[in-house]
Formats: sequence, C-alpha cells, structure tokens
Amino acid sequence: MNYPYQIKNLEEYKAAYTKSVKEPENFWAEVAENFVWKKKWDSVLEWNFSEPSIKWFKGGKLNITENCLDRHLATNANTPAIIWESNDPEEHHRVLTYKELHFKVCQFANVLKNNGVKKGDRVCIYMGMIPELSIATLACARIGAIHSVIFGGFSAQAISDRLQDAHAEYIVTCDGGFRGTKDIPLKSVIDDALIACPFVKRVIVCTRTRTAVSMIKGRDVWWEDEIKKVETQGNPACPAEEMDAEDALFILYTSGSTGKPKGVVHTCAGYMVWTNYTFVNVFQYKPGQVHFCTADIGWITGHSYIVYGPLSAGATSLMFEGIPTYPDAGRFWDVVDKFKVNILYTAPTAIRSLMSFGLDTVNNKDLSSLQVLGSVGEPINEEAWQWYYKNIGKEKCPVVDTWWQTETGGILISNLAGVTPHKPSFATLPLPGVQPCLVDESGKEIEGNGVSGNLCIKFPWPGIIRTTYNDHERCRQTYFSTYKGLYFTGDGCLRDEEGNYRITGRVDDVLNVSGHRIGTAELENAINMHSGVIESAIVGYPHDIKGQGIYAYVIYDGTHDHNLTRKDIAQTVTHIIGAIAKPDKIQFVTGLPKTRSGKIMRRILRKIAEGDTGNLGDTSTLLDPTLVDVIKEGAL
Ligand code: PRX
Repeated sequence: MNYPYQIKNLEEYKAAYTKSVKEPENFWAEVAENFVWKKKWDSVLEWNFSEPSIKWFKGGKLNITENCLDRHLATNANTPAIIWESNDPEEHHRVLTYKELHFKVCQFANVLKNNGVKKGDRVCIYMGMIPELSIATLACARIGAIHSVIFGGFSAQAISDRLQDAHAEYIVTCDGGFRGTKDIPLKSVIDDALIACPFVKRVIVCTRTRTAVSMIKGRDVWWEDEIKKVETQGNPACPAEEMDAEDALFILYTSGSTGKPKGVVHTCAGYMVWTNYTFVNVFQYKPGQVHFCTADIGWITGHSYIVYGPLSAGATSLMFEGIPTYPDAGRFWDVVDKFKVNILYTAPTAIRSLMSFGLDTVNNKDLSSLQVLGSVGEPINEEAWQWYYKNIGKEKCPVVDTWWQTETGGILISNLAGVTPHKPSFATLPLPGVQPCLVDESGKEIEGNGVSGNLCIKFPWPGIIRTTYNDHERCRQTYFSTYKGLYFTGDGCLRDEEGNYRITGRVDDVLNVSGHRIGTAELENAINMHSGVIESAIVGYPHDIKGQGIYAYVIYDGTHDHNLTRKDIAQTVTHIIGAIAKPDKIQFVTGLPKTRSGKIMRRILRKIAEGDTGNLGDTSTLLDPTLVDVIKEGAL
C-alpha cells in the first residue's frame, strides 16, 4: 500500500500545514480520496462549536472494516495484520494475516447477527488482550453495531454504570485473562455487573484461561460454540453494513472533572481518516514494518494505534497480552527482538518503571530493528526521554512525543518521526488540520511565542469527539463552553520561542496516574461510600514512576484501626472503580480546608501532598485557618 499523503520532509510538513489551515476542505478531500467509500460525501465539513455540531464527509457512505480489511486482500492478503504475543513467553505466538483476520471478523460478525445484534445496538466488550478482542471490535464495526470496549481492570460496578449508560444489551467477554502472574476472572466480574443490568440479553464468552465460569441458560453462550454454528451454516461471508459517515462507530468511557465517566462518541468516517492519517505520518509507517503499541485496546490508544490506524494502513500490528515486567523487566525488549519490531509506542510510566531495573535486561537483547520510538499518555520527563532515546533507540531512532486525548480520536500534537525535529519533553508541533491556541483564564488568546496558558483548539479536525453518549449537553458544557468558540482540552501548555508545544498537565480536577485518567470527583464519591468516611478530598502529587500519585485526605469517624481502614478504603475503591484508582496515600484529617462558601481549597492540599509546605499562600479566606497546621503535621 502506498500513502500519497505521507509527509516526507520539513518543507512538505509546512506546506501541508498551511494548506490544511487555508483550504481545510480541499486538504481533507484529497486525503479522503484514498479510502474506500460506498458513496462519496456531499460536503467535506459543516461545523459549529456552539452546539456543537460537527459533520465530516456528510452524506458519505462507507464501512471502516472494508478499509481495514477487504481493501488489503487483493495485494496484501498474506501480510500479517496482527501478530499476537502471549503473556506466557513459552506459549506459541499467533499470526493472523489480512486474509485470516478478514475471515474471522466476518465469521464473528455472523455470530453477532445470529445472536440478535443489529446495526446501532451497543455491544460491550470486556476481554483480555487476545486477537479475539480485535476480532470482536471489528465485527461490531462490520455490522454497524456500536462497540464500547471496557478496560479489563475496571470493576463490576464501573461496568454496570457503563452498561446502563449505553443501554448495552450484548456483551462479549472471556472466561478470564492472563496478566503477569494474575488470572483475571473477567466473566465473574461481568456476572456481578449484570446483577444491576437485567436488560442484557446475551453474553458471548470466549475461552482463554478456561477458568470455571457460571453460564446462565438463555443468556450466556460460548464463543467457540457460536462459531461452530456459523460454520455449519456454510457461508462465512458477511457483507459490510453501509454506514453513514457520521454514524457512531464506538463509545469509549473516560473520566472528567465532574460526575461519572462520560461516553465519548466517535463516528465512522472522520475517525477512520484521522487515525490513518496520523498513524502514517507520525510514525512514518513503511509497508512491511512491524508496529508495536503496548497499550490495551480498552483505552483510546489501543483503539486508534493497535486496531484502526494500523489496519486501515495495511500495517502489521503487534498485540501483547502481558505486562512489561513479566516474567522479568526485559519482556518488551524480548518482544522487540523476537519479532524485529520497527516502531515501539509506549507510555512514560512503562519507561520509568523499566529504567529502575537497570540495563541488564536491555543490553542482552537485539534492538537493532527499531526505527521509531513513541511516547503517549502523559508528559515525558527529560530523564525518561533520554534513557529511552539512548538505551532503547541507541540514539538512532527519533522519539515521537504524541499528545492527544480520548476525545481527539488520534494524535494532535507531535513531531513526525525523522521528518520534523524532536525535542525532549516537548510534543512539538501540531499535525496538519490542528489549530492550537493558548488562552488565559478569561479566555483571551495569548499570542506569540515563549508563553503559556490553557490549551484550546480553534478548528475541528476529522477525529474530534462528536458527542457524549445520550447527553449532548454534557459534551457542550465540558469541552465547548469554557471558552466560547473553542474546544478546551483541560491541559495546561507552554509554547517555546520556536513555537514548540509542551503539555504541562491537566488544569482541571483530573489526575493522570500511570497514563490513566482519573476524575477526582469520581474517586471522592467512591471513597465516601466507605462506611465511617464523612468526606474526602483527592489531589495528585508527583510520583517517580506513575507520573502522578493519588493522595487522599479523609475525614473518618469510624472506630476501626487506621491502617486496616486504609486497606478497607482501597478495597472499596477497587470495588467501585477498579484497582487503577486505589489511593497511594491516605491521610486521616479532622476537617478539610474550606472557604466560607464551602469550597475545598485544593491548592493547599496539593502543596501539602507535594511536601511543599513552606509557603501555602493566602489562607485568610479559610473558614478555619488553624486546620492547615494540623493537616501539615499529619502529612504522609
Ligand atoms: O493530560 C493529557 C495527557 O493525557 C490526557 C488524555 O488522557 P486520555 O484521554 O486517557 O488519553 C491518553 C492517550 C492519548 C491529556 O489531556 N497526555 C496524553 N498524551 C500526552 C499527555 N500529556 C503530555 N504529553 C503527552 N504526549
């Protein structure tokens, strides 16, 4: 496959960027011509940010799976589409060529149809990182069902909330999943989630761990049995459903500063064009290369850069079931060596964690196949960047620091590997089509270079969020109302003298722990559910490995031992959200520093959590300023 829109040098980048701003419709029409459409679009872009209403390629008809699978069959049928490496290094890896993946997706699409799934239905997918997860995802897209993939680390309660919000009547899961030494009881978690979701009609269970599971008559069926039924029906083909460019492709839940997680909705055409365009340009993918994105498909990074971006480009995408430290901290490097990986895309947390194990597990591996390194999910500190560049890339691989969000569908700000310069700890320049701006608190744009402010985007790009499921007003309020006429990212940002962007972290009440987004309000609600807890306040603090750690201040009137209560609270959080949201530190306090209007002064709590208690700033507006000293004394 060739990519006529792949930018090859700095001049081409500048020209493409300028054209994307001056003539966005022509620019994107030219890119979109390179995809398979069942019917061409009537207009390239119609938009306003006030409702918001954003329509890319309106009137166009397509199916994303024809672009990810069918179109590669003529020339690349035997190219590996997915290489899968097991959690267990002794278990044989699997390779699915485009032909095989196409076959399996069609087969499972027929399973979904046999089980009553129709276009527009929501299907929740809760599986470990096995090829069947990609197959289930693509099979939904094949028949126009809307997938909602939930990360395997979320709790039954979190799943239940998401199932109810999306009113998902169908679930695809596994008996269990392997991660390091753990065997995660996925089906059992689903069973607990379903207690509050009687509307679920069907649960399709794929075998992985062959853990004993409960199978309820009339509701639960085995993946393998359903495949056999399709086989006996004879015809494995499944025509790709004709989808409108703006039909929903998937929902992915993400945390914000208020309330429960919201279902970010992406649509078919724009998301396809954006993930493909960014994949091909940021990583400078060349046919034949092996791309290894270490994310889980339960997060947006996996959706966009394991499944849709690479497959729409006919690339070979490596899926890894395990974790970076099992059986030892050299596992990523083993995988790179074993499959001669060319592009490695991972998170700063993983890099920092592996750094701490030293170079013994790195230096005995052949990493010479690597050509491009990528970073995603959180700011990468200079030390981690340099370690990655020197010890993994051997100073010959460009590092792309890719800034983006669940809501943006794909990468918005990043250098293009080997094409535009990298700069440690800077995401650098916007991709063509992305018009960033910095604003001050009042919403006034801060022009020029050498400045910082809140990061907004002025103009839609094809992969932008369209709505939050079932609650369009929430989408408007969260992203489009803080600053009139702008998409607000929630991130703080600095623009250096050369115009390079550096993302400095969230400016709202959202934490980024090991690259996972956690809303403080959501976490406080979970903690407050623990008996004996009266109130709590969560702040982030710098953490060597995780980037940010979770510090909880808790007012507790219970009589139980504090150390045990800390564990009980952590268990409550694990139950309500999942283990990823467990607080690192819990300090019991008698009160929280509040203003007379009842607002918690988080600024003070943040400083105490950071250990920076020298100057806490003005505390005179506090209802009870003496409380601050007491909290300071008890700091952990
Ligand atoms: O704060 C930014 C941070 O992660 C947030 C988005 O999180 P999520 O929707 O879970 O998506 C993560 C994967 C794209 C952003 O608002 N973030 C993401 N990438 C970077 C980053 N911060 C700094 N540098 C990055 N490269």
